[in-house]
Amino acid sequence: MATLLDVGQSLAGTHDLKHALHRVLEKLWRHHKMLHSTIMLLDAETEELCVEASHGFKEDVVRRANYRLGEGVFGRVAQSARPVVVPQVSREPLLHESNNGKQRKSVSLSHEMSCICVPVTIHRKPIGVLWAYIKYEPSGDLEMMTKFLSIVASMVAQAFKVKHLIEADKQRLLDENIHLKQELRERYDFGHIIGNSSPLRQVYEQVTQVARSNTTVLLRGESGTGKELIAHAIHYNSLRSNKPFIKVNCAALPETLIESELFGYEKGAFTGAQVRKKGRFELADGGTLFLDEIGDLNLSTQIKLLRVLQEREFERLGGTETIKINVRLIVATNKDLERSIAEGQFREDLYYRLNVFTIFMPPLRERKTDILLLADHFLEKYAREHSKPIKRISTPAIDMLTSYHWPGNVRELENTVERAVLVCETNVVHGHHLPPTLQTAEGSGTITRLTLASAIEAFERDIIQDALKSTRGNRKKAAKLLDTTERIIGYKVLKYNIDCDRFRP
Ligand SMILES: Nc1ncnc2c1ncn2[C@@H]1O[C@H](COP(=O)(O)OP(=O)(O)O)[C@@H](O)[C@H]1O
Ligand SMILES: [Mg+2]
Repeated sequence: MATLLDVGQSLAGTHDLKHALHRVLEKLWRHHKMLHSTIMLLDAETEELCVEASHGFKEDVVRRANYRLGEGVFGRVAQSARPVVVPQVSREPLLHESNNGKQRKSVSLSHEMSCICVPVTIHRKPIGVLWAYIKYEPSGDLEMMTKFLSIVASMVAQAFKVKHLIEADKQRLLDENIHLKQELRERYDFGHIIGNSSPLRQVYEQVTQVARSNTTVLLRGESGTGKELIAHAIHYNSLRSNKPFIKVNCAALPETLIESELFGYEKGAFTGAQVRKKGRFELADGGTLFLDEIGDLNLSTQIKLLRVLQEREFERLGGTETIKINVRLIVATNKDLERSIAEGQFREDLYYRLNVFTIFMPPLRERKTDILLLADHFLEKYAREHSKPIKRISTPAIDMLTSYHWPGNVRELENTVERAVLVCETNVVHGHHLPPTLQTAEGSGTITRLTLASAIEAFERDIIQDALKSTRGNRKKAAKLLDTTERIIGYKVLKYNIDCDRFRP
């Protein structure tokens, strides 16, 4: 029992199965005076038994000892999956023959021995054999010893099964990982960046120039212009594309957290640091670190970041070990960094470190030709996503889209189109499917000429339209919804020339 416990522990306590098997055999020798013992495994391809672990032999003897299935005593055990017991080895010629018929000198017969060979099986299928030589004793209980070795063999089999399961799992995860990376790459390659206006083509050109180098890239431009998209495109077109792309939004994290997020911490660095944690710099090792909204980074973290950029190394919070990094940095901001410097909000030295290769993302209103392409792209995307048969955008709606000034850029356009897809009940997106901000001339950016009266009128028109929309053109219900009379609604409909019929089902 003590040996079995020992064997179990040896097999369970390691990932190195070969090493564990050696320890198992050593234990058999120590506790049960097994003079020689060997575990052989069946090679799936050649169908030969090959030594996996052995104890009590000279090494070169062991390496040569291969058996074909059915050959010799061991080959027979592997074939039949039944144990064989040889009480006196000197009387069993099969034990002394090697695979080419020559005399095998592996076992010295200075004194008589018994040999026990048991199969190692998984689901009753033999995967190898375990055999052992013990000193011959005329009154020895070989049956008992055979049972004992069979138990050891089944434990060994179990260990192999677990190992195979783990390996299969690992392989599955590796395959899945390759597949996911491929998917990511496809999602972020140039093909998925829409637009061929000349400002955007200039951006593509810059991305191509800089992607394959390790240069730090600074992406500037208003919110929603596609900076993050470009950061991805740079990574997936670089030599680091198989390594991680890690993003940190500097504006989303409170000052107290950002440093531990970037650089990680050691156990006990502060209250609550119960385990050591790697920072994003470490996670991005070999790949790309994308620092979004860098203009919002606080001054003390700016100093630390500068040091990392200069020395290419850092320490975790509360740690002394210096960590070297190989990370490509891409940063983005919609802030006017020069003004931040003048106001003392951004360090000039850091600015020069980051401002190596700058790409300006043009606002959408400066590339009107992209609006149509993007709108069509998003229409297709969201029509598919929401399973709607919408085919196109009407000409007046296109005019509204192109004359609007898009302060939220592509992100706003994307949201606008998704909303239109949701409210659209036919297969064409019309002007009234677009949000109120686009409905009026004021929406197109001429906000300075807007008078109070016209603003109120525009607002009034919008909410009446919305009410009519939700009541499917029923004025009485719309009046109730807006807590007014049907007469007033009727008057306003005339005044604003609202076409109620189009809300009717
Ligand atoms: N040229 C483009 N083609 C397709 N989608 C775009 C394009 N530019 C931006 N987008 C989309 O618009 C949204 C905002 O882009 P993002 O990269 O997050 O902008 P930023 O980081 O500048 O705020 C994202 O959903 C992005 O996929
Ligand atoms: Mg962004």
